[in-house]
Amino acid sequence: MPDAPAGVAQGKVLLGISGGIAAYKGAYLVRRLRERGIAVRCAPTLAAESFVSPLTLEVLSGERVYGQNYLSRDGGVDGAELHVEAARWADLLCVAPATANTLARLSLGLADDFLSTTALMFEGPVVVAPAMHDAMWCKPQVGAQVEALRSRGAEIVGPVEGALASGERGWGRMAEPEEIVDAVCRTLALPDDGATSPVGPLGGKRVVVTAGPTFEAIDPVRFLGNRSSGRMGFALARQAALRGAEVILVAGPVNRAAPDGVQRIDVVSAVEMEAALAETAPSADLIVMAAAVADYRPLRCADRKLKKSGADGLVLELEQNPDLLAGLATVAPRAVRVGFAAETERLESAARGKLKAKQAHWIVANDVSRPDIGFEAVDNEVVVFGRNDAPVRLAKQSKDELAGRLLELFAGDMPGEDAAGESS
Ligand code: CTP
Repeated sequence: MPDAPAGVAQGKVLLGISGGIAAYKGAYLVRRLRERGIAVRCAPTLAAESFVSPLTLEVLSGERVYGQNYLSRDGGVDGAELHVEAARWADLLCVAPATANTLARLSLGLADDFLSTTALMFEGPVVVAPAMHDAMWCKPQVGAQVEALRSRGAEIVGPVEGALASGERGWGRMAEPEEIVDAVCRTLALPDDGATSPVGPLGGKRVVVTAGPTFEAIDPVRFLGNRSSGRMGFALARQAALRGAEVILVAGPVNRAAPDGVQRIDVVSAVEMEAALAETAPSADLIVMAAAVADYRPLRCADRKLKKSGADGLVLELEQNPDLLAGLATVAPRAVRVGFAAETERLESAARGKLKAKQAHWIVANDVSRPDIGFEAVDNEVVVFGRNDAPVRLAKQSKDELAGRLLELFAGDMPGEDAAGESS
């Protein structure tokens, strides 16, 4: 378990997990909360235990789990002290995922299992992340329970649009764990929303992060794009804000909520991203180009939708986009400048070539031919090349964790930092 970043306060969260497919993400939530210095005790419902084992939750949280085994061993729901103890221990109750059934029980004040009984007993703030099929989510009876919870002060996070367990797409997917953790921290008033907080290793620094793909228009409805999900760049922005930096996130077209405490500028094309950087980069201390900027754009964007001409093929004439990272050497000469190199072969020589050609301080290289890391994946594994030192290998880990490690590395290059050999 990595240490919590400096400046992150402590808190105690009782995590209620109810029985939907998103219950497995409860394990991930425990890790993310603990990374922020928060102690977590889990209360899975009976149905949730079919999706995530109490042992997993116990190992990850390092705390007792109020699972069915524990309850029967230690007195069960009849052992009335347990729900009192849990409700008094926690600073915040987070229920994620909250199924339609659990939502209704929380809203109506039923007390027919440990989670609902404890929730009824609990006096502090409540964060709820619903997850269900969107046909259920859209039902007025569900909406009424959500509104009742909200009117009593509960924070409702999500759901979001995306792939559902049924294989369909729709609104009903649980919000990303990072979003839920942000809501928990905000509600606990931990300094995760303090983007300009002087606390933290990046306090007082300005960080610009680019993320996502760029779309280059062919005509009003078509474009050239790529598969970048923006996950790495958004994780970097979130982690930089957590460490006290003032963060500007220049985001290409991705369907992703901006992290708390981050100023977001939406762009579509490489030329728009260049304009946003011209505004924001000159005053930055650190610029991380995690965006997958398109190298080429159509020479002309048709005014109207192109029609089939009858010919077998279509030739699109392309022109090169500016290299934004290379341009930053002129636009932001004093900033630490970082690029990403997504490669499918000869990682090291490609990364070293880009480091030099783009006058960057660091190139973070990853192998996008592997399906378990890189584009769209939750995890990433990278090799980081700097100007002098031997490459730094960062083992496979979540993009959020990786973002934290990378920022620690880059922070060492910034004026005023005390990293070995680089302080000024
Ligand atoms: N980049 C950029 N502007 C471009 C293309 C890339 O700023 N027009 C940045 C990316 O954001 C990334 C780094 O340069 O941080 C490397 O991107 P990559 O696509 O790997 O490099 P390219 O120079 O496009 O080389 P390749 O021929 O391998 O695509």
